[in-house]
Amino acid sequence: MARIVAGVGCSHVPAIGAAIDLGKTGDPYWQPLFKGFEFSRQWIAAERPDVVILVYNDHASAFSLELIPTFAIGCAAQFQPADEGWGPRPVPVVEGHPGLAWHIAQSTILDEFDMTIVNKMDVDHGLTVPLSLMFGQPAAWPCKVIPLAVNVVQYPPPTGNRCYQLGHAIRKAVASFDRDLKVMIFGTGGMSHQLQGPRAGLINSEFDRRFLDQLSADPDGLARIQHIEYVREAGSEGIELVMWLIMRGALEEQVRELYRFYHVPASNTAVGHIILENPR
Ligand code: DHB
Ligand code: FE
Repeated sequence: MARIVAGVGCSHVPAIGAAIDLGKTGDPYWQPLFKGFEFSRQWIAAERPDVVILVYNDHASAFSLELIPTFAIGCAAQFQPADEGWGPRPVPVVEGHPGLAWHIAQSTILDEFDMTIVNKMDVDHGLTVPLSLMFGQPAAWPCKVIPLAVNVVQYPPPTGNRCYQLGHAIRKAVASFDRDLKVMIFGTGGMSHQLQGPRAGLINSEFDRRFLDQLSADPDGLARIQHIEYVREAGSEGIELVMWLIMRGALEEQVRELYRFYHVPASNTAVGHIILENPR
């Protein structure tokens, strides 16, 4: 059977991707940030997942205001890196896992989550930056990736609780897939950040740290946080954090926090990172 072994929470700041692509990871500004992912890169290289379900948001790259799916699962065999205005990032093509993706689509939709099925989609920094942070710069990504795009760009995004419940449905879906696969799930975006308006540059480390604590130990409580609190405490783009609750919901109730890293700043944001392992 397929099994989810671990979840990874990770920011997806586009400037991190640019720093990697332009060979700046050793610069004084960036060096402490990339050092914080060294453990994780070694860990995941040793763990060798077959598939990563990568929860992220599209930033008007594949979708636009013309079409805004709340939850969209990528069922294609391949996904090209998106051109976000500077040409596509020089990263490998993302290889999907159509078999598991269609199974998750079927299982979650029959569980009454109205998932959009996507058979063609370019993937932007929301998806490729976490891959770069975790896997470095390989010639090909070492695992299959199932993109799961969440609308956190145009109001109204899904609630944290809805995301958490979707995570439970994904857990059930993966557990009922009858192929022996080692699966991980990433929740990306965040942490506190606001990119526009008078509060641009807002960082709330206290909120971020509490979020990480609760993500580990009290996800039910965390799932009750309302949109308005995310926006007030974590900034308008801090709402991306609801995506971490999909990852957490896909794990067991009790998890082991294997690793945590928190760093300010990267671009205009706080970078958070956590690894949660399911019991073996
Ligand atoms: C920025 C953009 C993002 O999508 C994000 O999650 C964090 C930061 C930015 O433009 O700096
Ligand atoms: Fe983002």
